[in-house]
Amino acid sequence: MSIIIAVDGHSSCGKSTLAKGLAKQLHYLYGDSGAMYRAVTLYFLNNMVNYHDLDAVTQALEKIKIRFKRIEGQNTTFLNDENVEREIRTMRVSEHVSPVSTIPVVRRAMVKQQQIMGQKRGIVMDGRDIGTVVFPDAELKIYLTADPDVRTSRRHLELAAKGIDADWNDIKHNLLERDRIDSTRFDSPLRQAEDAVVIDNTLLSEEEQLELALRFALERGAKM
Ligand code: DC
Repeated sequence: MSIIIAVDGHSSCGKSTLAKGLAKQLHYLYGDSGAMYRAVTLYFLNNMVNYHDLDAVTQALEKIKIRFKRIEGQNTTFLNDENVEREIRTMRVSEHVSPVSTIPVVRRAMVKQQQIMGQKRGIVMDGRDIGTVVFPDAELKIYLTADPDVRTSRRHLELAAKGIDADWNDIKHNLLERDRIDSTRFDSPLRQAEDAVVIDNTLLSEEEQLELALRFALERGAKM
């Protein structure tokens, strides 16, 4: 049986690492919902769309096409046929993505596409509202959390590995600010689904958290 696995939690607490690991082990699709909000944000910034103007946002959304392709084994984000995988991870986009993702018309458009990706089940999707709004019927919902300093250091390393130089304190400030906006917004705030299992990975290695999550997935009906 193919199931849906929702992975939600704060910024940079290892959601994508866990979701990609699960997808690989189970031969499932991986859905990076954050990349979609990042791609929309990049479009708004590059095309000078004032995201406080609802008409401008609605018109711009019609011109945005987001696709994922696998390139050299990596999930890669395309915005209107341009590879934007690297650009959507920069601080420039990180600084605007939380306000952009509070906009209900943006959320509606993204959620619709995400639900289409999960129509056949067999998907692991990470984000903020996957277990609560996108796939409320997911067989497994994981809510990930970790200490903020540990999250900042992981993010710093991840950016450095991509050749992006960012200040540790700026990263921490951005993470906490995004947590605040994501958790307090009116439309689909980040919150733990009632039926989610919580994993605090502060003291867990990537392998340990994957092993734990895989066990939950097999218990909920996934097959290796
Ligand atoms: O997972 P990420 O850090 O790449 O996500 C970037 C931003 O997108 C995050 O600050 C909040 C928003 N987001 C969201 O509102 N809902 C989702 N399902 C995924 C991301």
